[in-house]
Amino acid sequence: MYGSRIRVAPNTVVFCDPQAHADIYSYKSNVQRSKFYTAFQRDDRDKTTLNTICRSPFLDLLVWLKPRGVNRLFALLTPPPIQRYYQFVFDSVSKRIALQKAQVTKPEAERRKDLFYFLCEARNADTGLPAYDDIDLRAEANLLIIAGSDTTAISLSGIFFYLTGDQHRYQKLVRELRTTFKSVDDIVYGPTLNNCTYLKACIDKSMRLTPTGPSELSRDVLPGGIKILGQYYPQGTIVGTSAWADSRNQEVYGDPEIFRPERWIVGDEQGYPNTKEDVARIRRNFFPFASGPGNCVGQNVAMSEIMLVAARTLHRLDVRRAPGSTMGPGAPELGWGSRDRKQLQLADAYIALRRGPEVQFRKAAVQGS
Ligand code: HEM
Repeated sequence: MYGSRIRVAPNTVVFCDPQAHADIYSYKSNVQRSKFYTAFQRDDRDKTTLNTICRSPFLDLLVWLKPRGVNRLFALLTPPPIQRYYQFVFDSVSKRIALQKAQVTKPEAERRKDLFYFLCEARNADTGLPAYDDIDLRAEANLLIIAGSDTTAISLSGIFFYLTGDQHRYQKLVRELRTTFKSVDDIVYGPTLNNCTYLKACIDKSMRLTPTGPSELSRDVLPGGIKILGQYYPQGTIVGTSAWADSRNQEVYGDPEIFRPERWIVGDEQGYPNTKEDVARIRRNFFPFASGPGNCVGQNVAMSEIMLVAARTLHRLDVRRAPGSTMGPGAPELGWGSRDRKQLQLADAYIALRRGPEVQFRKAAVQGS
């Protein structure tokens, strides 16, 4: 370990520094996604799916075996629930493709125009032919389900965990929402929701403490090498920054473990005066959707989903942590690194795994104001 760098495997260096993040993930950085992403693909037509064998000593062997039949072996070994999941995706996409064909003759206004509509309608700019065939559409559906549902659910778990652990902040947010919107039906995605500063601060804060992908997004250094934090790394080195470590960088946040949404707002009260520079400093270290090539294509959809779900839930319902529940937080008996009761515990499986929080809802006593 050298300051803000750690060599986690013979050819892999992980950094914890906002400048290192900029050096590695910008559009100009001399890197590409590492082999780890190739290991994700179920077969050679499945160009999109991501997976989890990043630092396995068998990674090279696996990548070599994939075009040589190992995928068929894996397909046979796939546990029944996962096979059922793939069957579900297959059947759902088949139905959606059938609908797409059936609605061709319908007037434009009557067609179902969801994400799939636009994928089916996309054309290859050179040939004018459909950009995605049926196999591509199934692969995209799979990616969108994994990339677009677990991630949002993890973020919402974080939001409800940290809010139900802090009555003062919970009440402050509820006040903002119930005074801004008269009725829950007024809560739609748009400028009024976007102007809910405290809601946004709570979401940012919870997403920081609950990264959906805690480990590094690994990148292979290309011929010519790269300079990171002023040091040269040659071709073939694997580099990255880890969202979990970045989110707890003491030099950036001072008290990283504390849930304090006010730190995202310039000049907010509570004895924590925040300057523009303070807020800019933490923003420069916050990349929940990654950055540069390969960043999240769904970030606007994700943010609108999260804002709507959090705002509508807290407007309509009172929420509390289930009394006595031990699901989610750390505990002394969980051992080193997992003792803090105020932190939602995450396990890294490329995507963050968590148990809890367990929360209870009841109809809000006071609606609007
Ligand atoms: C809170 C919610 C979300 C978070 C935190 C998040 C985060 C991320 C991150 C960090 C990546 C980069 C992964 C990597 O390079 O290994 C990514 C990629 C991606 N995300 Fe999201 N995501 C979220 C929601 C969504 C949603 C709702 C969708 C779709 C509607 C989506 C679609 C994608 C896709 C397709 C990619 C791959 C992009 C590419 O390979 O070029 N994400 N996301």
